[in-house]
Amino acid sequence: MFIDCKSIAKSIDEETIALTRLTKPKLVSLAVNPDEGTISYLKSQQKKAKSLNVEHEIFVLDNVEILSEKLLEFSKDETVHGIFVAHPLPKGADELQVASLIDPEKDVEGRNPVNLGRLMYGEEGFAPCTAAAIVEILTRTTQLMGKNVVIVGRSNTVGLPLSVMLLRRDRSATVTVCHTKTQNLEEKTLQADIVVVAVGHAGFLKPEMVRENALVIDVGINVVGDRVVGDVDPEVEKKCSLTPVPGGVGVVTTAILMNRVARIASRGGKV
Ligand SMILES: NC(=O)c1ccc[n+]([C@@H]2O[C@H](COP(=O)([O-])OP(=O)(O)OC[C@H]3O[C@@H](n4cnc5c(N)ncnc54)[C@H](OP(=O)(O)O)[C@@H]3O)[C@@H](O)[C@H]2O)c1
Repeated sequence: MFIDCKSIAKSIDEETIALTRLTKPKLVSLAVNPDEGTISYLKSQQKKAKSLNVEHEIFVLDNVEILSEKLLEFSKDETVHGIFVAHPLPKGADELQVASLIDPEKDVEGRNPVNLGRLMYGEEGFAPCTAAAIVEILTRTTQLMGKNVVIVGRSNTVGLPLSVMLLRRDRSATVTVCHTKTQNLEEKTLQADIVVVAVGHAGFLKPEMVRENALVIDVGINVVGDRVVGDVDPEVEKKCSLTPVPGGVGVVTTAILMNRVARIASRGGKV
């Protein structure tokens, strides 16, 4: 069975629209030498922003020095409420240094070390949007307390922050985080009540790697020919509850991103 993520996104959008009736939120998205995939993602962000009355400007830049200048400028600009930087950054760029230039109160993707630190104290207002989207989907779909969750992938934007969020005492899942050096991955995923896959390999999680009736969250976005597919083999849907790709984690992530910009605008910097 596929999980209906579009209706989750819709309910978040409803709150965003209510907020944008009262304020004029503005998001700026910056990218250095973006590839086609990134440009297409930024355009979809723009379409979504328009539909929710969030003002949105995209800046395509040549190098990280200009990016740094722009981040300082927008961090000070009171008409800008949210700052989004497309990743990956060019080879050799210092990610921590770039993230540190974003005002933590406008850091809608939760990359600034201040916001990653807040996460350790259970403050999730600026948690990375994809991790926040997965928590939203899980909490609306199941009880997490004591459940065995296996996360495959440990990136700073998905696996790592998600593990911290699921361990928070009010959720208290038992979390295992796997990566390329994990041995006997299948043994671990087969034990899980919930499997989250964020590896970036099309069809990576096979039906034989999950148990009957498990809940599976597919974070992957892979372009295969002219199609976008996830990290989970679609056959998994026959034995588990699965988030679709497209129309799954991605739509909830964008809804949360826009909601955050609207909240920042309406609450004077606090989400
Ligand atoms: N839907 C959304 O909103 C959204 C948002 C962000 C990303 N994504 C998608 O999610 C996927 C992952 O993105 P990301 O940024 O988290 O990726 P990433 O930074 O490339 O990290 C990939 C992770 O997967 C692990 N991994 C790769 N191959 C593996 C294997 N064979 N076995 C076990 N672990 C493996 C890596 O392990 P090591 O650490 O050992 O290298 C790494 O931790 C991509 O398809 C991306 O497009 C979607």
